[in-house]
Amino acid sequence: MELSEYVATIKDYPQPGIVFRDVTPLMADGNAFNYACTEIVQYARDKGIDLVVGPEARGFIIGCPVAYALGVGFAPVRKPGKLPREVVEETYEKEYGTDTLTIHADAIKPGQRVLIVDDLLATGGTIEATIALVEKLGGVVAGAAFIIELDELKGREKLKGTDYKVLLHY
Ligand code: PRP
Ligand code: HPA
Repeated sequence: MELSEYVATIKDYPQPGIVFRDVTPLMADGNAFNYACTEIVQYARDKGIDLVVGPEARGFIIGCPVAYALGVGFAPVRKPGKLPREVVEETYEKEYGTDTLTIHADAIKPGQRVLIVDDLLATGGTIEATIALVEKLGGVVAGAAFIIELDELKGREKLKGTDYKVLLHY
């Protein structure tokens, strides 16, 4: 399947000069969404995954069907103030300034093998912080998967050798 047919390209969103890749048409098409999730499941199948972790908000949409198909649970990584119980936090660099992500402190049992799933790898700040959160809780990042990588933003450098799967490169 040619997944790129299901990615919309929006110039100057959310700011002038940014070319935004929008995966909502892919999510809205049953065949394309099923194909994308199945590709990620096949990538993860032999990795002994115990838990899928996905960052807010589009990481939830891709991560949950992948977790369901693997027969494992899902733990959300959220922006501050959204999770109701004790959290651990990680602050990361954005293009301008910093941002923080959180996960429930009991979301991962030490030694659990985690697959991180998100829609898109851009500068890599989100995945770097998510890897740090998983490792703070004693989890093992066994792999990561994205529908899209924006190659020129070099987010792969933030993965620091973590094995990962990408379905589309721009
Ligand atoms: C987008 C995208 C990834 C992240 C990638 O989410 O869904 O999570 O940015 O960018 P990075 O590699 O430069 O960190 P966003 O932060 O816009 O959050 P949202 O899904 O809640 O809108
Ligand atoms: N699309 C979706 N999310 C993003 C993008 C993009 O092009 N860049 C950074 N986050």
